[in-house]
Amino acid sequence: MTDLNPQAKQMADESMVRNLAAQARAIWPQEVPLLRRYRLPREARILDAGCGTGEASSRVAELFPRATVLGVDILDQHLELARSRYARLAPRLTFEHQSVYELGAPDGAFDLTVCRHVLHSIPHAERVIRELARVTRRGGYLHLIPEDYGMLHFPRAALDPRDFWHEVSAAFSSATGTDLFAGRHAFNILATMKLDQITVDFIVVDTIRVPRETFATILEAWRDGYSTAIGEFTKFSRDSAVAYFNQMIAHIRDPLHYAVWMVPVVSARVPEPGPL
Ligand SMILES: C[S@@+](CC[C@H](N)C(=O)[O-])C[C@H]1O[C@@H](n2cnc3c(N)ncnc32)[C@H](O)[C@@H]1O
Repeated sequence: MTDLNPQAKQMADESMVRNLAAQARAIWPQEVPLLRRYRLPREARILDAGCGTGEASSRVAELFPRATVLGVDILDQHLELARSRYARLAPRLTFEHQSVYELGAPDGAFDLTVCRHVLHSIPHAERVIRELARVTRRGGYLHLIPEDYGMLHFPRAALDPRDFWHEVSAAFSSATGTDLFAGRHAFNILATMKLDQITVDFIVVDTIRVPRETFATILEAWRDGYSTAIGEFTKFSRDSAVAYFNQMIAHIRDPLHYAVWMVPVVSARVPEPGPL
């Protein structure tokens, strides 16, 4: 049977906690207008599926001050951190141990279902998206951030990061039964499911729009959390992975250089029932 959580070790590492905080700081300012597009009731019911430490669940609860927000995850230590960090938003914001493969909610329970930075890291993204659509009401929305590791661009120097991301993403995907190019494939899943109003937007995490230190923190966390697994699953050794990350981090910090991570935000509406 496929391991349904092949990145469990990396998700539980302390580097992931700082990574999620830095990613939220980098991404959220550009994500707000995308979230505001959805036509939601004032007292919207919102699910954050694979909520991690609650970085986005809490921001969503603050963005929609009359909404109730449920964050679910399978990592209890993340859930505990989220509950303690955002106690001030309870009981409007709650966190529960649930798997995105089999959510506890009945059909159509949520007006908006958010799933950020999860779908590329677990197998069977299509199955998960079907489950997210099931718990979203007709006329409600899916708001997904499926990462795509072919959408990172860094200067070439002694090392060529194109080789690194190309090889690492493909080898890591096949070793773990996941799709590290999920960003470009999510549209097809939503279209095949016949969802409405599919959009693909890009949040641009680059050295102009995002503070260099925030962007560098993300790469440092990836280096610290993933280099060992890259050494196991790909042709790059652990030390070589660290060297690639260090070169990319140095370029992010260098005001003479430009680097970019394009983060796809893929959304869709669950169709209203058609005329009989
Ligand atoms: C990279 S983190 C993203 C966290 C959060 N969505 C954010 O944007 O900050 C991915 C999360 O997905 C969770 N996850 C993995 N498999 C899951 C599953 N089957 N059900 C629920 N959560 C899962 C991990 O435990 C981890 O907290």
